[in-house]
Amino acid sequence: MRKTTSMALAATLAATAALALWGAPTFAQTDEETQRGLERFRQMLREDPWANPALLDADRGEDLWREARGPNGVSLETCDLGLGPGVVDGAFAQLPRYFEDAGRVMDAETRILWCMETIQGIDTAAFLARPHPGGGAPVKEVGAIATFVANRSEGMDFAPRLDDEPGREMVALGEALFNRRSGPFDFSCATCHAESGQRIRLQELPHLSDPEEAQAVVGEWPAYRISSTHVMTMQHRMYDCYWQMRMPQLLFGSEASVALIAFLVDRAEGGAIAAPGIKR
Ligand code: HEC
Repeated sequence: MRKTTSMALAATLAATAALALWGAPTFAQTDEETQRGLERFRQMLREDPWANPALLDADRGEDLWREARGPNGVSLETCDLGLGPGVVDGAFAQLPRYFEDAGRVMDAETRILWCMETIQGIDTAAFLARPHPGGGAPVKEVGAIATFVANRSEGMDFAPRLDDEPGREMVALGEALFNRRSGPFDFSCATCHAESGQRIRLQELPHLSDPEEAQAVVGEWPAYRISSTHVMTMQHRMYDCYWQMRMPQLLFGSEASVALIAFLVDRAEGGAIAAPGIKR
């Protein structure tokens, strides 16, 4: 029995080795075909603005925003996203910004969580332990609300309020983090994102410190990510790129996460918001 298994295994290994030897170009081609197929699918989703599955999450986010929830049994409709309590339209276009009541600069997601905690009295510890969805799982509540909030600035240009002292400090910190090499691979964000036309396999890597390229992509977040079939938020994107660098886990809403987002949005200033976007 054991012998049969190991023989079968040996045969499989031999077949795999043969495929690896003879099949390499075929694999590459298949990969390319998959990419082209995905690109066609993305194109189809883009051509029909109502086909973006992320709009369902934006709707869910709107319901969550309006619903009386948490120990305090109130909605988020008094949450101040920067333009006054309850004002959602256009608020995302002016984030990140400094919030006097919290004493810090916040991006949309960090602010939403802050409101859930302070207004609704929701305990955020469980969320903070696992803030991002696994592949195939829907974006969590904070991300759904962020999708709703971002969508309500669609078509507006980014005009973040980062020109005061705390804002400028945050952008400077983000820039330093962006360029700082660290971790076991000695990578910085700039290693992958500070040149035009770079790719990892077939994925294009935008030159994020270049205003033109930042303007083209930053406003698409939160975005529906086809390959993981859920909405991915900017906090999740930062977390994932830090993971790719094998850095310690980037904490949701941490100063480092907000600084990186502030830096990216500062570079994207003037670019149009097209959220939720669609990514590979
Ligand atoms: C090892 C290379 C690598 C490093 C280092 C890296 N990234 Fe990325 N980044 C990627 C790849 C690959 C993608 C595309 C991911 C995907 O689509 O699955 C990406 C995507 C992004 C995007 C979305 C771009 C778009 O098209 O909208 C942003 C924003 C981003 N990275 C920011 C960062 C930041 C900030 C850092 C540093 C904390 C960083 N990245 C470090 C490889 C990297």
